[in-house]
Amino acid sequence: MNQRIVVGISGASGAAIGVRIVELLAERGAEVHLVITPAAERTLREEIAPDAQTKVEALAHRVHNHADIGASIASGSFPTAGMIVAPCSMRTLAAIAQSLADNLLARAADVHLKERRPLVLIARETPLHLGHLRQMTAATEMGAIIMPPAPAFYLRPASVADIIDQMARRAIDLLRTFPPAATPWTG
Ligand SMILES: Cc1cc2nc3c(=O)[nH]c(=O)nc-3n(C[C@H](O)[C@H](O)[C@H](O)COP(=O)(O)O)c2cc1C
Repeated sequence: MNQRIVVGISGASGAAIGVRIVELLAERGAEVHLVITPAAERTLREEIAPDAQTKVEALAHRVHNHADIGASIASGSFPTAGMIVAPCSMRTLAAIAQSLADNLLARAADVHLKERRPLVLIARETPLHLGHLRQMTAATEMGAIIMPPAPAFYLRPASVADIIDQMARRAIDLLRTFPPAATPWTG
C-alpha cells in the first residue's frame, strides 16, 4: 500500500495539530512530504516554540519549500495516498477552492483534487463569514473533506494535548490508509 502522505501546514491557529499529524504519521512509518507556508513558520514559532519548525521538519521524509512549484508533489505523476492541510487558513482554503495553485501547498492540494485522491482540510477560523463558508462548499464539491478542529468533548479530554491528539488521529483516519487510530465512541 502506498503510504506516502503530503502534509501542509498553513498559517491558521493550531500549528500543533499539524505537528501531531506529522509525529503520528512518522510513528506509522509513512513517507511524509511536508510543506510549510511562511505564515505557518510564524505560528509554529509563536504558538509552540522557536525551534518547532526545525523539530517537525526533522520528522519528515522530505521537506519542500513552499515556493518550489516544481517539486515532486506538484505533479500528479508522483503517487501519494493523500494529503492533509493542518491547520488550513482561510487564505489557503480559498486558494485551494479557487484552484490558484500559487504556492506548492496549494498546488499539491490541487493535484490531490484533480487526481481524485483524499484531501483533508483542517479549516480553522472562527466565527465564519459567508465567504469562508462558500470556499468550504466549493472545496467540498470538488472532493475535499473539511474537518474543522472541533474537540470531541464526548471523550472527556483531560488536556489540550488530548484534544490535539484526537483531532490528528481523526484527520489521519479520514485518509483510510492506516488502521483506525482515533478513540471511538463505543456507546
Ligand atoms: C498567531 C496567528 C494566528 C492566526 N490564526 C488564523 C486562523 O485561525 N485562521 C486563519 O484563516 N488565519 C489566521 N491567521 C492569519 C494567516 O496567517 C494569514 O491569513 C496568512 O496570510 C495565511 O497564509 P497561508 O495561507 O499562506 O499560510 C493567523 C495569523 C497569526 C500570526
